[in-house]
Amino acid sequence: MQDGLEQSQQPGFQSETMTAATEPSDQRPPRAASRHLGWGLIAIAAIAIGLYAVPPYATFDPLWSRIPLNAAFTAHMLWLSVHAVPSGLALIIGPFQFMPAIRTRWPKAHRLAGKVYLCCVVLGSIAAIASTIMTTAGFAAQVGFSLLIMGWLLSAWHAYRAARQRRFADHRIWMIRNYALTFAAVLLRVFLVAGMGVRQLVPSIPFDQLYTSSLWSAIFVSALVAEWFIVTRARPKAR
Ligand code: HEM
Repeated sequence: MQDGLEQSQQPGFQSETMTAATEPSDQRPPRAASRHLGWGLIAIAAIAIGLYAVPPYATFDPLWSRIPLNAAFTAHMLWLSVHAVPSGLALIIGPFQFMPAIRTRWPKAHRLAGKVYLCCVVLGSIAAIASTIMTTAGFAAQVGFSLLIMGWLLSAWHAYRAARQRRFADHRIWMIRNYALTFAAVLLRVFLVAGMGVRQLVPSIPFDQLYTSSLWSAIFVSALVAEWFIVTRARPKAR
């Protein structure tokens, strides 16, 4: 539909990018302010989970693993580390890529950070394949992780291709989908903590079921919120 058009040429893409960059902050519409707040909160959550979850794996030392390692695979910790470090970096870079002020003021930095982000997604995904094979979390979790890997890689590819072809509205939509899947890592941990709270009240809930249901809920909620955001906010408006 908008193939080959510049973002600024696309119908209805009179964008938040231009609004935020050109209007003084006190004249911005409330929607733009709430969007800034939204991305700010997402950035804080992403940085907090990245800094909490990833450092033990930067040691590459099996003693620091927070999850049970599979004794059948001596390289399990190595793959978890190769997965966690770039994935954590993608998680932290992501929100800043959506901030209009950064995108418009420093376009070169946006492009460079975008390339780093996509490399992290590819490396994180490859290591996630190995981690999925080695996990002790069971078959239902393996299926969930496999779908997440496919969605992560596929949306990254579409986003990259759209950017190369200068279809910037499509690029943005695919990046929203991609980052929502990255952010599933945050939701997984939030749901797990909430589930552990419920488990205090109902101790009979097995941990592996809590883990799997948190994983599936995280995938479902992040994909749903992304599609809602795309339909209600991010699609170029019809003429
Ligand atoms: C969105 C695509 C992702 C997929 C498919 C994926 C997949 C996996 C898999 C299969 C494992 C092993 C789980 C287990 O054996 O129980 C794992 C662990 C891990 N992942 Fe991811 N992951 C993704 C994103 C992320 C992100 C964005 C982060 C950033 C924080 C991250 C950080 C970690 C960490 C730190 C672990 C080690 C387990 C832990 O201590 O929680 N992952 N991931």
